[in-house]
Amino acid sequence: MSRNNHFERFESHTQLKHFLLNAYLRQWAHILVQDRGRAHRRPRRIWFIDAFAGCGRDGVGAPGSPVIAADVAREIAAEYFGAPKGTALLPDRGMRVIAVEANAKRARRLKGNMQPYAREEPRVASVYTGVLQEFLGDLQPRVRHDPVLYFFDPFGVDGLDAEVLNQVFDGPRREVLLLFSDTGAVRLAGHAVAQAPNREQLLAERTRTKSLFGQDDDATLEQADLTFVEQRLGGYRGKQQSYDKMTRAFGTAAWVEIFLNTPPALRRERLLDLYGETLRKAGAKYVLRFQVTTSAGEHKYTLLHAATHSAAFAAMKKAMHSARRTIPRLAEQPVLFSLDDTKSAETDSRRHNAPAVETVASEEVRHLHDAVEQIARRFAGQAEVRWIDGRAGRVGVKHYALHDTPLLVHQFDDLKGVLARRGYLKTARPLTYAFPQVAEDGLSKAS
Ligand SMILES: C[S@@+](CC[C@H](N)C(=O)[O-])C[C@H]1O[C@@H](n2cnc3c(N)ncnc32)[C@H](O)[C@@H]1O
Repeated sequence: MSRNNHFERFESHTQLKHFLLNAYLRQWAHILVQDRGRAHRRPRRIWFIDAFAGCGRDGVGAPGSPVIAADVAREIAAEYFGAPKGTALLPDRGMRVIAVEANAKRARRLKGNMQPYAREEPRVASVYTGVLQEFLGDLQPRVRHDPVLYFFDPFGVDGLDAEVLNQVFDGPRREVLLLFSDTGAVRLAGHAVAQAPNREQLLAERTRTKSLFGQDDDATLEQADLTFVEQRLGGYRGKQQSYDKMTRAFGTAAWVEIFLNTPPALRRERLLDLYGETLRKAGAKYVLRFQVTTSAGEHKYTLLHAATHSAAFAAMKKAMHSARRTIPRLAEQPVLFSLDDTKSAETDSRRHNAPAVETVASEEVRHLHDAVEQIARRFAGQAEVRWIDGRAGRVGVKHYALHDTPLLVHQFDDLKGVLARRGYLKTARPLTYAFPQVAEDGLSKAS
């Protein structure tokens, strides 16, 4: 399916994206409106800024990202701010959705689909036609002290701009959820660095022995050769544009070296690493990634989550974990996904030929032992550390692992195993650990 008919009917991997977005938004909104934040001030207003909003619904009415978000915003208005349908929401309260769409035709459809949320009480959404860069100057003073989640969901890498990322991490509670088309990035990079052949050389290769059948045939053949050569050269036009798109998305031309010096099979992963760096340079302190593949093994895209605060990082992990256990019944095709590699999930998703979210959130996640060392350092010298948060607000191992290590929830059983094998387990009930006071290099020898 091409970009042009993306909004006719959402494909199953798009439905999976919407399922994950919905799962995360619910977790995010409920946590943040209750979170007391700094200075014990409870956020009264939170923002979801959908920078690539699309049409709002597909041709058969299935909701897209801005409608999904606006439905969550309505729930939040009713549950926490006494504003059910038909009741106005105070301007500084609730969850607000900003939907931005650059394409004029899609923006018109978007406005129609968002009308109930923008015009009827409680009003939770606004639609902007254009690109986020045009509106950031107006939006930022309005959202200044509130938590903000930006959603970047472009076609390929078109429209991604590291400069915008540099601007969005401008407060203590900022998050980005970004659908990164890593395969699209590899294709675009390949196009940008391809060496165009020389026209004369191509023509020389096509030169034929003059026909014995007269000049008319020669002229036809010559014309065919010219057309062929122009078509070949045409494939290399737009190289500069591809280069510019890549450099704008990554905020650096470093992708060129990486692409050229990396074996083809590893390019996708390396470009993802580089994009992770782009997010960190922009101000993200926590970056998670989830891969979406079809059960036939075709990788579709990677979902990147980047945040300035650990509460968002932990919420994302929890949302992905609980979403994994729910099998959505979407459209005609059931969509299964898994954040781990359990056999049953693999077999099931293969049977239904449905997309799946792969195990690995990031390279670091594989390194359970690195996380254990980090934990042992954090609690070094403490003889009574509970798994679940301890008394008097003392942080437990679980909380720390969730908020400050790359470990995902489904790895917690393995984590407990490694902690026990290293001799840190003190009592099983309640689960309590004792961590030795060791020099930094002593930790790795303790395994
Ligand atoms: C993949 S679709 C978005 C789908 C939508 N997020 C959803 O889940 O339903 C990408 C959309 O971004 C729009 N777009 C492309 N470049 C843009 C830009 N720089 N700013 C805003 N929208 C853009 C396209 O017209 C298209 O509608």
